[in-house]
Amino acid sequence: MNADPAIKKLRESSKAVSVHSYSPYSKFKIGATLVIKGGKTFSGTNVENASFGLSMCAERNAIFQAVAHGEQQIETMAIYSPLKTHVVPCGVCLQVMIEFMQMDSSIYLFCESDDYIKEPFSYFLPHPFLKESLLNRD
Ligand code: THU
Repeated sequence: MNADPAIKKLRESSKAVSVHSYSPYSKFKIGATLVIKGGKTFSGTNVENASFGLSMCAERNAIFQAVAHGEQQIETMAIYSPLKTHVVPCGVCLQVMIEFMQMDSSIYLFCESDDYIKEPFSYFLPHPFLKESLLNRD
């Protein structure tokens, strides 16, 4: 990968956590790493359940880790999938991300190949429901 060391590190930590994925049903092992303003990182992986609807995505597990450690200003989100193509975050995760990210925060998508995608949050969800919307109630 011809990327700068910080991007390589994001890929490596997302890949490392994906190994711990509990995904006996989908066999989809996803890893996510986020970077907090100031540089701290938190990672998460997907955890499934026999009651399928209770499964939790890697991205949200990473976000909940950050919040549990007192961090709420997420600057970057990276997602690794051990597949030939990149996995796009689901709509639920995007909605949870925007609670703690900005429209121009970067999202990196990594997969087996060395190619990666970097796009701002707004590329994936241009019209999220924002907490500011709640302020417009009468
Ligand atoms: N999954 C994630 O963890 N992140 C994504 O961005 C997409 C989907 C998980 C949820 C479930 O465990 C499996 O992948 C199949 O949907």
